[in-house]
Amino acid sequence: MPKRPLDHPPSAHASIASAILPPSPDLPTPLLGDLTPTQFMRRYWQKKPLLIRQAIPNVAAPLSRDALFALAQNDDVEARLVTHFRDAWRLAHGPFEAGDLPSVKRRDWTLLVQGVDLHNDRARALLDRFRFLPDARLDDLMISYATDGGGVGPHFDSYDVFLLQVHGKRRWRISAQKDLALKNGLPLKVLQRFEAAQEWVLEPGDMLYLPPHIAHDGVALGECMTCSIGFRSPSSHEMIGQFLYHLAERGTAAHHVGVDQRYRDPHQNAVMHPAALPAALVEQIGAILARVRWNERDVVSFLGSYLSEPKAHVVFDPPERPASKAAFVREASGAGIRLDRKTVLLYGSRTYFINGEECPLPQRKKWLRELADARRLEGKRFVTLSADSSMTALLHEWYRAGWVRTGAFA
Ligand code: SIN
Ligand code: CO
Repeated sequence: MPKRPLDHPPSAHASIASAILPPSPDLPTPLLGDLTPTQFMRRYWQKKPLLIRQAIPNVAAPLSRDALFALAQNDDVEARLVTHFRDAWRLAHGPFEAGDLPSVKRRDWTLLVQGVDLHNDRARALLDRFRFLPDARLDDLMISYATDGGGVGPHFDSYDVFLLQVHGKRRWRISAQKDLALKNGLPLKVLQRFEAAQEWVLEPGDMLYLPPHIAHDGVALGECMTCSIGFRSPSSHEMIGQFLYHLAERGTAAHHVGVDQRYRDPHQNAVMHPAALPAALVEQIGAILARVRWNERDVVSFLGSYLSEPKAHVVFDPPERPASKAAFVREASGAGIRLDRKTVLLYGSRTYFINGEECPLPQRKKWLRELADARRLEGKRFVTLSADSSMTALLHEWYRAGWVRTGAFA
């Protein structure tokens, strides 16, 4: 059979990005100032800020200024422009055409591009360094570009963040102040009063970790770029609403109640006040709702599906001329496979979740957990596992959907 070319020939694209793995929990790492991830989690995570000089020595911005501006032109990319001209804060939402951004010669503006990891393999590789934290908590990598004086003003966030300087310098000032009142009438969250307790100038490779609710203000000293590695921590409000929706969508709630009951009112009297809610209706529906039950499996099913759901606007990019299964296996046996940068693959004890879909874990499930944790399988490892034809069939399906690619990062 003639060898059909794959859309992403691995040999042409193999790069160092694929070689970077998250640090192991008990090995000191420069990324965390020579703490082990275990020490960092115990001492700092969600507790207090940490400045790390040269967390990533010789770091390079994942993409150039012009490539970032080009990304901000796409309508599937979330981009914001914050200007602070003549002492007035202004916010505009993308997409931004080439002429929409101020001149790079003008000071006091910043462009923030969210979810760069979904569009750029180097950004995804940078995010992967933080996988000593669970994928369920990692959110995205945002890049901000600023001209001299640019920033978003003193504010606080509700999420943990690692602020990694990748180009130029930025002065960060922070405070654990209790007063988090915001200025009124502004398009962005700016603190009414900000009293810096500490300040540092960050250079490329330096990083600042901030837990939620630490007031901070980052001002560009000359042109600069900062990567924000952000986390998600859904609110109970969001979880309750989404969980009940999940139960309802699957009919699980009705299943646990016993029967899909319908309201009956054989004893309803004729009424003088048709607009009034019947008391019997409230009572009967209240009794049905009180019988809604769920178990841990429902919670796992909900969390896995919800957290692996692609974000709004995510579109996968399947190969235009997909290789046959045999050619795919041949290619993967040499170059290995990796999850596409947009793919989310999570697992529980019985099921796994890929891009919002839940499936039972296959009987021989080791490979799936390995792929989910490492986001890749080396060629040699793929060969060892490939005797399992159900595995190769499933991976070929994912490859055809654009969820899995052969080879290393592009
Ligand atoms: C920035 O990178 O300019 C803003 C990031 C932040 O303060 O959260
Ligand atoms: Co912030």
